[in-house]
Amino acid sequence: MDFSVVSKDVWSVNAAARVLPRFEDQKTAGLPAKVAHALDDAKKKKLFSGRKGESWVFDGVVFVGLGKQERFKVSTVLRALGGALPALRKLGVASVAVDLSYLPVAAVGMAASGMLDAAYRFEEFKKEKAFEWLEKVFLVSKESDASAALKKALFVAEAVRLARDLDNLPPNVAYPESVAETAQKWARLHGLKAMVWDEKQLKANGCNAILAVGNGSMHGPRLVVVEYHGGGKKDSWVALVGKGITFDSGGISIKPSADMDKMKFDKSGACVVLAAMTALSKLGVKKNVVGVVALAENLPSGTAYRPSDIIQSYSGKTIEVLNTDAEGRMVLADALGFVYDKYKPVQTVELATLTGACCVALGEQFAGMFGNDEALLAHVQAASHQSGDAVWRLPLDEFEDDVKSDIAEVKNVGHPKGYAGASTAAAFLKHFVSGPWVHLDIAGTSWNTSTKPYLTTGATGFGVRLLLEWLSQKTESTTPKAKK
Ligand code: BES
Ligand code: MN
Ligand code: ZN
Repeated sequence: MDFSVVSKDVWSVNAAARVLPRFEDQKTAGLPAKVAHALDDAKKKKLFSGRKGESWVFDGVVFVGLGKQERFKVSTVLRALGGALPALRKLGVASVAVDLSYLPVAAVGMAASGMLDAAYRFEEFKKEKAFEWLEKVFLVSKESDASAALKKALFVAEAVRLARDLDNLPPNVAYPESVAETAQKWARLHGLKAMVWDEKQLKANGCNAILAVGNGSMHGPRLVVVEYHGGGKKDSWVALVGKGITFDSGGISIKPSADMDKMKFDKSGACVVLAAMTALSKLGVKKNVVGVVALAENLPSGTAYRPSDIIQSYSGKTIEVLNTDAEGRMVLADALGFVYDKYKPVQTVELATLTGACCVALGEQFAGMFGNDEALLAHVQAASHQSGDAVWRLPLDEFEDDVKSDIAEVKNVGHPKGYAGASTAAAFLKHFVSGPWVHLDIAGTSWNTSTKPYLTTGATGFGVRLLLEWLSQKTESTTPKAKK
């Protein structure tokens, strides 16, 4: 799919089909008479009225709904345009013109990004690849910075694709060592500095929580650190941290077999962090950013860690293991401890498929957001609105006592009945944090269980757009303070 911006009228673009995004009750003035009549008729017959998620085809024109104009957010364009793709495929056209002329310039990037997202297929293990008819997409906009916006959006979309491709890999292919190698390869390709700790270095540096989780697997755990130097030499670090469990069976506290296959996506946080890092220099981000991902495979075996083990984490805090399936917070305890010790980041956003409880609360629509700094929370919330990666804040402070242990400093489970499981997991992490931090529980949003018009099943890359939007915001300054 090849995208370009054109400033002509959508009807005069030489394309085989057109996409018209429409608000609810949008006036038909300006449309060719035939199209205007068809739209009025479609509304009467309740075939199309412009609601979000609607699409309708007439005479080579695909109409997609944007919802009510007064409630419009530019991120709506992402899924609306993605939703046009099945119809365009049915039409079998090679070119299309998309009318964005009455929308803000950011709609240009959203449209391209949404169409690429919808066209994505994970075909690495298929000999016969799906054929994509659609080659040329003309984005109609008269805004002077539309081409620049498109260029940036394509960089972001490419990072989303990388994250999805890596996350979709099965655990016999993507295990800690191989994911660490991929991270090193990406770092080389994108001018980043990478460092990988294997079992020996993890041991020498006291990352016992990561080691404990990885101990049941033949594949040793890894800690991967990727540095991007976009700021000044004296600028502080901004940190991205990701949970990278390449397969989560639960370990000795084993999970039920139904849906266990989905636990290959338990590395989503790591995939999102590593992929976002690859886009920073292309987007011209003027900050020093460090990405830290903790990689391990959680399996039961004679060498696996057990319920009742007490582990001393990197930070020195001791953790009582009461459930080996609460392994994400274990590896993150070390990853967070490490990054605060070595980099003293002034802002940290950490992403993890951490709890089933978060899926129960927020479904596939929202990631859970937690944090200890109102300013950073507000920035992440704003980036969420801008990017379309939706988050919903959940409470944290009230749950700190729930993870105190009788015989160690903390325990890796909260309430015995699992009450407020997403919050108690976040409260556990907070014990290993020493600076402004936002935790995103992406358990519900990082993969799709049913094919939607705008997204196939499997990894979604949720978080890449949000992180890149947040890091691109120019308003924040990273106070020139102590470097590592
Ligand atoms: N990776 C899971 C969380 C998860 C479950 C994500 C389902 C997506 C879908 C995590 O490691 C886990 O197993 N969490 C436990 C915590 C519990 C043992 C305290 C959970 O949510 O049940
Ligand atoms: Mn688990
Ligand atoms: Zn897990």
